Amino acid sequence: MAAKGIFKEMEGKKMLRLENINWSLEDGREILNNVSLEIPDNKLIVITGPNGGGKTTLAKVVAGLISPESGKIFFDGQDITGKDITERAKLGISYAFQQPVRFKGLTVRDLLELAAGRELKQPEICELLGKVGLCKNDYIDREVNASLSGGEIKRIEIATVLARNTKLSIFDEPEAGIDLWSFAGLVDVFKEVKDKVNGTLMIISHQERILEIADEIIVISKGQLEDSGSAQDILPKLISGSRTPRPCERGAQA
Ligand SMILES: Nc1ncnc2c1ncn2[C@@H]1O[C@H](COP(=O)(O)OP(=O)(O)OP(=O)(O)O)[C@@H](O)[C@H]1O
Ligand SMILES: [Mg+2]
Repeated sequence: MAAKGIFKEMEGKKMLRLENINWSLEDGREILNNVSLEIPDNKLIVITGPNGGGKTTLAKVVAGLISPESGKIFFDGQDITGKDITERAKLGISYAFQQPVRFKGLTVRDLLELAAGRELKQPEICELLGKVGLCKNDYIDREVNASLSGGEIKRIEIATVLARNTKLSIFDEPEAGIDLWSFAGLVDVFKEVKDKVNGTLMIISHQERILEIADEIIVISKGQLEDSGSAQDILPKLISGSRTPRPCERGAQA
Protein backbone atom coordinates (compact mmCIF):
# COMPACT_ATOMS: atom_id res chain seq x y z
CA MET A 1 0.00 0.00 0.00
CA ALA A 2 3.09 2.20 0.13
CA ALA A 3 2.82 5.09 -2.30
CA LYS A 4 5.38 5.39 -5.02
CA GLY A 5 7.31 8.61 -5.07
CA ILE A 6 10.63 10.28 -5.47
CA PHE A 7 11.68 9.05 -2.05
CA LYS A 8 11.03 5.44 -2.99
CA GLU A 9 14.30 4.46 -1.37
CA MET A 10 12.78 5.40 1.99
CA GLU A 11 10.04 2.79 1.78
CA GLY A 12 10.19 0.25 4.58
CA LYS A 13 12.81 2.36 6.31
CA LYS A 14 11.62 5.85 7.14
CA MET A 15 7.85 6.02 7.12
CA LEU A 16 7.61 9.68 8.04
CA ARG A 17 10.04 12.40 7.16
CA LEU A 18 9.81 16.07 8.14
CA GLU A 19 12.04 18.51 6.33
CA ASN A 20 12.72 21.98 7.74
CA ILE A 21 9.27 22.53 9.24
CA ASN A 22 8.46 26.06 10.41
CA TRP A 23 5.30 27.31 12.07
CA SER A 24 4.74 30.67 13.78
CA LEU A 25 1.95 32.56 15.46
CA GLU A 26 0.29 35.54 13.82
CA ASP A 27 2.38 37.83 16.01
CA GLY A 28 5.49 36.29 14.45
CA ARG A 29 6.55 34.15 17.44
CA GLU A 30 8.24 31.03 16.09
CA ILE A 31 6.74 27.87 17.59
CA LEU A 32 8.47 25.33 15.32
CA ASN A 33 11.84 26.36 14.02
CA ASN A 34 13.32 24.34 11.19
CA VAL A 35 12.40 20.90 12.54
CA SER A 36 13.69 17.98 10.48
CA LEU A 37 13.29 14.38 11.57
CA GLU A 38 12.70 10.88 10.33
CA ILE A 39 10.45 8.28 11.88
CA PRO A 40 10.92 4.61 10.97
CA ASP A 41 8.28 1.97 10.34
CA ASN A 42 6.98 -0.34 13.07
CA LYS A 43 8.55 1.46 16.00
CA LEU A 44 7.43 3.10 19.20
CA ILE A 45 8.63 6.68 19.14
CA VAL A 46 8.25 8.92 22.18
CA ILE A 47 8.44 12.68 21.80
CA THR A 48 9.26 14.53 24.99
CA GLY A 49 10.56 17.89 26.16
CA PRO A 50 9.55 20.87 28.27
CA ASN A 51 6.04 22.31 28.39
CA GLY A 52 5.45 24.72 25.56
CA GLY A 53 8.35 23.29 23.54
CA GLY A 54 6.22 22.61 20.47
CA LYS A 55 5.35 18.89 20.74
CA THR A 56 1.59 19.22 20.28
CA THR A 57 2.13 21.72 17.47
CA LEU A 58 4.44 19.24 15.74
CA ALA A 59 1.87 16.43 16.13
CA LYS A 60 -0.82 18.69 14.64
CA VAL A 61 1.44 19.47 11.68
CA VAL A 62 1.92 15.74 11.07
CA ALA A 63 -1.80 14.96 11.43
CA GLY A 64 -2.74 17.85 9.11
CA LEU A 65 -4.63 19.93 11.67
CA ILE A 66 -2.36 22.87 10.92
CA SER A 67 -0.17 23.58 7.90
CA PRO A 68 3.48 24.46 8.19
CA GLU A 69 4.54 27.83 6.81
CA SER A 70 7.47 26.20 5.13
CA GLY A 71 9.01 22.77 4.97
CA LYS A 72 7.82 19.43 3.68
CA ILE A 73 6.26 16.26 5.08
CA PHE A 74 6.66 12.89 3.41
CA PHE A 75 4.69 9.80 4.37
CA ASP A 76 5.81 6.53 2.80
CA GLY A 77 7.76 8.56 0.30
CA GLN A 78 4.73 10.63 -0.75
CA ASP A 79 4.70 14.40 -0.26
CA ILE A 80 1.65 14.98 1.99
CA THR A 81 2.42 18.61 2.87
CA GLY A 82 -0.66 19.91 1.02
CA LYS A 83 -3.03 17.18 2.24
CA ASP A 84 -5.68 17.86 4.88
CA ILE A 85 -6.50 15.78 7.97
CA THR A 86 -9.08 13.61 6.14
CA GLU A 87 -6.71 12.80 3.29
CA ARG A 88 -3.96 11.98 5.76
CA ALA A 89 -6.33 9.79 7.80
CA LYS A 90 -7.10 7.84 4.62
CA LEU A 91 -3.40 7.36 4.01
CA GLY A 92 -3.02 5.96 7.53
CA ILE A 93 -2.32 8.72 10.05
CA SER A 94 -4.49 8.97 13.17
CA TYR A 95 -4.28 11.39 16.04
CA ALA A 96 -5.57 11.37 19.63
CA PHE A 97 -5.92 14.86 21.10
CA GLN A 98 -4.20 16.03 24.29
CA GLN A 99 -7.63 17.38 25.22
CA PRO A 100 -10.14 15.01 23.60
CA VAL A 101 -13.28 16.24 21.89
CA ARG A 102 -16.73 15.18 23.12
CA PHE A 103 -19.36 14.10 20.60
CA LYS A 104 -22.90 14.77 21.79
CA GLY A 105 -25.41 12.29 20.43
CA LEU A 106 -22.82 9.60 19.60
CA THR A 107 -22.39 6.57 21.82
CA VAL A 108 -19.08 4.92 22.61
CA ARG A 109 -20.03 2.07 20.25
CA ASP A 110 -20.81 4.57 17.42
CA LEU A 111 -17.49 6.28 17.92
CA LEU A 112 -15.49 3.03 17.88
CA GLU A 113 -17.34 1.79 14.80
CA LEU A 114 -16.76 5.10 13.01
CA ALA A 115 -13.07 4.82 13.85
CA ALA A 116 -12.86 1.21 12.68
CA GLY A 117 -14.88 2.03 9.55
CA ARG A 118 -17.17 -0.99 10.05
CA GLU A 119 -19.58 -2.58 12.49
CA LEU A 120 -17.82 -4.13 15.44
CA LYS A 121 -18.83 -7.35 17.12
CA GLN A 122 -19.42 -7.32 20.89
CA PRO A 123 -16.14 -9.16 21.65
CA GLU A 124 -14.18 -6.66 19.54
CA ILE A 125 -15.67 -3.70 21.43
CA CYS A 126 -15.04 -5.56 24.65
CA GLU A 127 -11.40 -6.09 23.73
CA LEU A 128 -10.88 -2.44 22.73
CA LEU A 129 -12.47 -1.03 25.86
CA GLY A 130 -10.72 -3.63 27.99
CA LYS A 131 -7.37 -2.51 26.61
CA VAL A 132 -7.91 0.98 27.95
CA GLY A 133 -9.20 -0.31 31.27
CA LEU A 134 -12.90 0.37 30.77
CA CYS A 135 -15.54 -2.24 31.51
CA LYS A 136 -17.51 -2.66 28.28
CA ASN A 137 -20.96 -3.00 29.83
CA ASP A 138 -20.70 0.27 31.68
CA TYR A 139 -19.65 2.27 28.66
CA ILE A 140 -20.73 0.76 25.36
CA ASP A 141 -24.03 2.66 25.17
CA ARG A 142 -22.90 5.80 27.01
CA GLU A 143 -23.10 9.02 25.05
CA VAL A 144 -19.69 10.63 24.50
CA ASN A 145 -20.73 13.85 26.25
CA ALA A 146 -19.86 15.96 29.27
CA SER A 147 -21.07 13.24 31.66
CA LEU A 148 -17.86 11.29 31.03
CA SER A 149 -14.94 12.17 33.27
CA GLY A 150 -11.70 13.55 31.81
CA GLY A 151 -9.94 10.21 32.32
CA GLU A 152 -12.82 8.24 30.77
CA ILE A 153 -12.98 10.39 27.65
CA LYS A 154 -9.22 10.15 27.24
CA ARG A 155 -9.36 6.35 27.43
CA ILE A 156 -12.22 6.23 24.92
CA GLU A 157 -10.23 8.35 22.54
CA ILE A 158 -7.21 6.06 22.89
CA ALA A 159 -9.55 3.13 22.12
CA THR A 160 -10.73 4.89 18.92
CA VAL A 161 -7.14 5.27 17.74
CA LEU A 162 -6.53 1.58 18.46
CA ALA A 163 -9.75 0.77 16.53
CA ARG A 164 -8.49 2.74 13.54
CA ASN A 165 -5.36 0.58 13.51
CA THR A 166 -3.51 2.86 11.13
CA LYS A 167 0.07 2.87 9.99
CA LEU A 168 0.93 5.88 12.16
CA SER A 169 -0.95 6.47 15.42
CA ILE A 170 -0.17 9.67 17.31
CA PHE A 171 -1.10 9.96 20.99
CA ASP A 172 -0.70 13.31 22.72
CA GLU A 173 -0.01 12.74 26.44
CA PRO A 174 -2.19 9.65 26.75
CA GLU A 175 -1.40 9.56 30.46
CA ALA A 176 -2.99 12.96 31.13
CA GLY A 177 -5.91 12.61 33.51
CA ILE A 178 -5.44 8.87 33.89
CA ASP A 179 -5.03 7.69 37.47
CA LEU A 180 -1.85 6.02 38.65
CA TRP A 181 -3.55 2.63 39.00
CA SER A 182 -4.70 2.55 35.39
CA PHE A 183 -1.48 4.10 34.12
CA ALA A 184 0.52 0.86 34.50
CA GLY A 185 -2.19 -0.87 32.44
CA LEU A 186 -1.93 1.81 29.77
CA VAL A 187 1.82 1.29 29.49
CA ASP A 188 1.10 -2.42 28.97
CA VAL A 189 -1.41 -1.54 26.25
CA PHE A 190 1.21 0.44 24.36
CA LYS A 191 3.75 -2.37 24.78
CA GLU A 192 1.22 -4.86 23.45
CA VAL A 193 0.10 -2.64 20.59
CA LYS A 194 3.71 -2.04 19.65
CA ASP A 195 4.31 -5.78 19.31
CA LYS A 196 1.06 -6.60 17.54
CA VAL A 197 0.32 -3.65 15.32
CA ASN A 198 1.92 -3.28 11.94
CA GLY A 199 2.70 0.39 12.25
CA THR A 200 4.37 3.10 14.28
CA LEU A 201 3.11 4.59 17.52
CA MET A 202 4.19 8.16 18.14
CA ILE A 203 3.51 9.04 21.77
CA ILE A 204 4.03 12.48 23.24
CA SER A 205 4.78 11.97 26.92
CA HIS A 206 6.60 13.26 29.97
CA GLN A 207 6.38 9.91 31.76
CA GLU A 208 9.51 7.88 32.45
CA ARG A 209 7.55 4.60 32.24
CA ILE A 210 6.54 5.45 28.67
CA LEU A 211 9.98 6.80 27.75
CA GLU A 212 11.45 3.47 28.93
CA ILE A 213 9.50 1.43 26.38
CA ALA A 214 10.44 3.66 23.43
CA ASP A 215 12.50 2.36 20.53
CA GLU A 216 13.51 5.95 19.96
CA ILE A 217 13.12 9.17 21.95
CA ILE A 218 12.91 12.57 20.29
CA VAL A 219 13.41 15.67 22.45
CA ILE A 220 11.70 18.86 21.24
CA SER A 221 12.56 22.05 23.05
CA LYS A 222 12.03 25.71 22.17
CA GLY A 223 10.55 24.67 18.84
CA GLN A 224 13.61 22.72 17.80
CA LEU A 225 14.83 19.15 17.66
CA GLU A 226 17.15 19.07 20.65
CA ASP A 227 18.14 15.41 20.72
CA SER A 228 17.12 12.00 19.42
CA GLY A 229 18.28 8.43 19.83
CA SER A 230 17.59 5.16 21.57
CA ALA A 231 15.95 5.12 24.99
CA GLN A 232 19.23 3.77 26.40
CA ASP A 233 21.08 6.84 25.11
CA ILE A 234 18.56 9.58 25.80
CA LEU A 235 16.80 8.53 29.01
CA PRO A 236 19.90 8.73 31.27
CA LYS A 237 20.57 12.26 29.99
CA LEU A 238 16.98 13.32 30.73
CA ILE A 239 17.04 11.74 34.19
CA SER A 240 20.45 13.11 35.17
CA GLY A 241 19.32 16.53 33.97
CA SER A 242 22.33 16.92 31.72
CA ARG A 243 20.14 18.86 29.33
CA THR A 244 19.94 21.46 32.13
CA PRO A 245 16.44 22.92 31.96
CA ARG A 246 15.83 26.59 32.46
CA PRO A 247 14.24 27.18 35.90
CA CYS A 248 10.86 27.79 34.26
CA GLU A 249 11.04 24.40 32.52
CA ARG A 250 11.56 22.38 35.69
CA GLY A 251 7.88 21.67 36.22
CA ALA A 252 7.91 19.76 32.96
CA GLN A 253 10.54 17.28 34.05
CA ALA A 254 8.08 14.65 35.24
N1 LIG B 1 -2.93 28.73 18.45
C1 LIG B 1 -2.04 29.19 19.31
N2 LIG B 1 -2.12 30.44 19.80
C2 LIG B 1 -1.22 30.93 20.68
N3 LIG B 1 -0.17 30.22 21.12
C3 LIG B 1 -0.02 28.97 20.67
C4 LIG B 1 -0.95 28.38 19.75
N4 LIG B 1 -0.54 27.12 19.49
C5 LIG B 1 0.57 26.94 20.21
N5 LIG B 1 0.87 28.05 20.92
C6 LIG B 1 2.05 28.23 21.80
O1 LIG B 1 3.11 27.50 21.21
C7 LIG B 1 3.95 26.95 22.20
C8 LIG B 1 4.06 25.46 21.95
O2 LIG B 1 2.84 24.84 22.24
P1 LIG B 1 2.61 23.28 22.23
O3 LIG B 1 1.21 23.05 22.62
O4 LIG B 1 3.06 22.75 20.93
O5 LIG B 1 3.63 22.83 23.38
P2 LIG B 1 3.87 21.38 24.00
O6 LIG B 1 5.31 21.04 23.82
O7 LIG B 1 2.86 20.42 23.48
O8 LIG B 1 3.62 21.65 25.55
P3 LIG B 1 2.97 20.71 26.70
O9 LIG B 1 4.07 19.79 27.16
O10 LIG B 1 2.62 21.69 27.77
O11 LIG B 1 1.77 20.03 26.15
C9 LIG B 1 3.32 27.30 23.53
O12 LIG B 1 3.97 28.43 24.04
C10 LIG B 1 1.88 27.62 23.17
O13 LIG B 1 1.32 28.54 24.08
MG1 LIG C 1 1.26 19.40 24.31
